[in-house]
Amino acid sequence: MKTTAKQQMIQNLLHWYDQEGRDLPWRLHPRQRATGHSVDPYAVWLSEVMLQQTSVATVTVRFEQFRRRWPTVEILAAAADEDVLAEWAGLGYYARARNLLKCARRIMSQFNGEFPKDAKELETLPGIGPYTAAAISSIAFDCPAAAVDGNIERVLARLFVVKEPLPKAKTQIRQHASELCPETRAGDWHQALMDLGAMVCKPRNPKCEICPLTSHCLAFKQGIQETLPKKASRRRRVVQYGILYVGRRQGDGAWLLEQRPNQGLFGGMLGWPGSDWGGSAKLPPPCDGVWHSVGEVAHSLTHLDLQLAVQIALLESSVTPHRGQFVMPHQFCSKSLPTLMRKAHQVAASALAELASRMS
Ligand code: ADE
Repeated sequence: MKTTAKQQMIQNLLHWYDQEGRDLPWRLHPRQRATGHSVDPYAVWLSEVMLQQTSVATVTVRFEQFRRRWPTVEILAAAADEDVLAEWAGLGYYARARNLLKCARRIMSQFNGEFPKDAKELETLPGIGPYTAAAISSIAFDCPAAAVDGNIERVLARLFVVKEPLPKAKTQIRQHASELCPETRAGDWHQALMDLGAMVCKPRNPKCEICPLTSHCLAFKQGIQETLPKKASRRRRVVQYGILYVGRRQGDGAWLLEQRPNQGLFGGMLGWPGSDWGGSAKLPPPCDGVWHSVGEVAHSLTHLDLQLAVQIALLESSVTPHRGQFVMPHQFCSKSLPTLMRKAHQVAASALAELASRMS
């Protein structure tokens, strides 16, 4: 690509971003930067980890909540693991929250509380892969490290007509990303590409009529923008079946909960006792009682779908569970359970109330 065309493209997109870029809580708008404010690397890192698995709309709310509770990397590094894991409910895999804490502690112990600027050095930290490292390096420090997320991938595949299907096309797209990344304003450049992908160059019905890059877009010239990027046909997803037992003690209303093993899905989190979801639905209830099937919850993770039957029981006050422990109602908060467990609670709670009214 000719230097003048490249410069023109960068200029067009950055100009568009200055006018139309989204105001997101971890960002510093170009207007603010002009008044001497600087980007907070902690905010950039935290937002990028949250955005690995969760939509911008959800992260916008949850990020603010999280940062209010742990406003700096130093304060986060000193937090109790269980508090951070509970705050992570609904934000994706708990392994990410564990790595977040490990990373915060490494930043304090090895880097004197300062995030490194270099993408290769960032990659040595827990939970930071090549994409996240490049995103932090460019957005927080304006280093010209090319970061390619799903939105950027689509924009570049269209701009340069990359016809090879994903994921093979990634190498070619990354090459374009590196060649195009500007030496200055690299952070704004990436965020501009992300915003363009989210708001204009959408997967379906792209708004080419308002796009600042149409004059450079090879796919637009050929009228094939909606067909790109191509995707290799998807493998069938794995479905795992199981049971969740939601038991409530009569009298004091305590809930029977269990801490899941540290390894595996929802590792270390509190949840309803149940099977190990290894493909078999058979596992006896965690204590004696009359158990009733009341429905099912479905939950999708990136690599598998869970389909879990929900059983409920009102338990005798004298019962001794083989698994788990009772949690008193005043100590129980369904919001701090992982989303799947919260869904099961929703299914179970009304059925338990109905059962209790029938028995009284
Ligand atoms: N997705 C990943 N990182 C992002 C960011 N910094 N802004 C908007 N969307 C994103």
